[in-house]
Amino acid sequence: MDKKTALEALSAEIRACRRCPLGQTRLQAVPGVGFPDARVVFVGEGPGYQEDRKGEPFVGPAGQLLDKILASIGLSRQTVYIANVVKCHPMKDPSNPDLRGNDRPPLPEEAAACMPFLQRQLAVISPEIIVALGASALRALAPQVAGLTKVRGTWMSYSLPDGKTFKLLPTYHPAALLRNPNWKKDVWTDMKALRQELGLRENS
Ligand code: URA
Repeated sequence: MDKKTALEALSAEIRACRRCPLGQTRLQAVPGVGFPDARVVFVGEGPGYQEDRKGEPFVGPAGQLLDKILASIGLSRQTVYIANVVKCHPMKDPSNPDLRGNDRPPLPEEAAACMPFLQRQLAVISPEIIVALGASALRALAPQVAGLTKVRGTWMSYSLPDGKTFKLLPTYHPAALLRNPNWKKDVWTDMKALRQELGLRENS
């Protein structure tokens, strides 16, 4: 099976998932988007209110910033793959899906229930590099490390249960940059390191 077909089959499974309580209440699961043969996979925390409505990751304000971050080193939604630790939005009040304000880090049991999907996405795509966007992604991919501010911008690794290993680069989540614009220079440093690791030219 080719990567595109394998990812589509996985996305269909994710859309049908009711493995944890988030799956009972979300409007749409958000499997992921991008190039099946991507060299880099960006991993966020989980869908927010707008992603829940669209079924696509990073479509709100943080997503617009992520698009700019990608473009700054010549990447795009069409050349990378974008996914999240959890695929379903935590609904504030399932009887009223229009209520906003419940974007929150996944609970450990929600992340544990959903991680096999991310692992299978990584196994199919087999990227060279995973970029962990923010503390929740880092916690899921490197539970042993101290904290995001200590390790951001340092090259680490992530191994699938079968031992397949990828380079892992933790950086700030774009939503955190919207709250703390002074962190943007650190993300720019990290993106330049990513560009160099990928062997991309400046202005490419
Ligand atoms: N934040 C995330 O971590 N993921 C999304 O898909 C959107 C916002």
